[in-house]
Amino acid sequence: MKPEKKYPAEVYLNGKWLKSNEAFISVFDRSFMFGDGIYEVTPFYKGKAFKLKEHLKRLQYSLDEVQIAFDAFKLEKLMWEAINRADLTEADAAIYIQVSRGTAPRSHFVPEKIETTILLYAFPVTLEGFENKTWEVMATEDKRWHRCDIKSTALLANVMANEEAISAGFDENLLVRKGYFTEGSHSSLFFVKYGVLHTHPEGPEILSGVTRAEVFKICSDLNIKVIEKAVHIDELVEVEEVFVTGTTTQIIPISSIIHKDKKVYTAHKDSITKKLQQAFIARTRS
Ligand code: PDD
Repeated sequence: MKPEKKYPAEVYLNGKWLKSNEAFISVFDRSFMFGDGIYEVTPFYKGKAFKLKEHLKRLQYSLDEVQIAFDAFKLEKLMWEAINRADLTEADAAIYIQVSRGTAPRSHFVPEKIETTILLYAFPVTLEGFENKTWEVMATEDKRWHRCDIKSTALLANVMANEEAISAGFDENLLVRKGYFTEGSHSSLFFVKYGVLHTHPEGPEILSGVTRAEVFKICSDLNIKVIEKAVHIDELVEVEEVFVTGTTTQIIPISSIIHKDKKVYTAHKDSITKKLQQAFIARTRS
């Protein structure tokens, strides 16, 4: 069953706070026409921002990469305002930010005079209890473009991969490029092999996950070795644990992987994932 999603009561759009059902943009907005926009999702644990600067830094990186001239850090004040206005200072929540290149008559080239469209809102999210979950996943071909490091709103390939998984009763779709796992449709991906963490190296093939970076820090504290090296699907026989990470996902172990209708992985250990989850809870809830 797909979870029911609700609209937020209000959103910030281009300088104004508006009721969700009264917030509109032009049909010529380039994010609508081309997916020409950047987005970010930042978690707030009971009103406390987690890695806010890192999220704004990644937003700035993506904006710079696609040459949308906008100062991401000027959104910080609005993020706090969104949490307050939505009455989420005591609850777990997240902020969605979208910066579109703006509205102009349709053209593939970027018009000279254009103003960004800014959308921002807070929404409640369940962040407790992730440590009790396990996900059954499928794996399919990574059909995305070659700039997955840019957090673009053009997510059609991610949407198709996720929809394929969810409608078939899986929790996530792990993406495979030339036989090597990259990441999930909306999560970063880790493997434990002989007690050592393996994850795809940073670069154009994956998003530089903020939660992924936090896992690296936890591993350094716990003396767990991490190798940034892609894992081939044929290596799964040597893999002891698999888990995915993300802002709302946090750290969730994978119990099985189905690839081309065949079970290619069944979890048989969870000790490292459990340690990382406990350390993550300590960091986010302290
Ligand atoms: N997605 N990889 C992809 C493709 C993602 O979409 C996400 C997160 C991640 C994890 O990144 P982080 O730890 O910074 O959240 C990795 C977000 C939350 C989303 O699209 O809603």
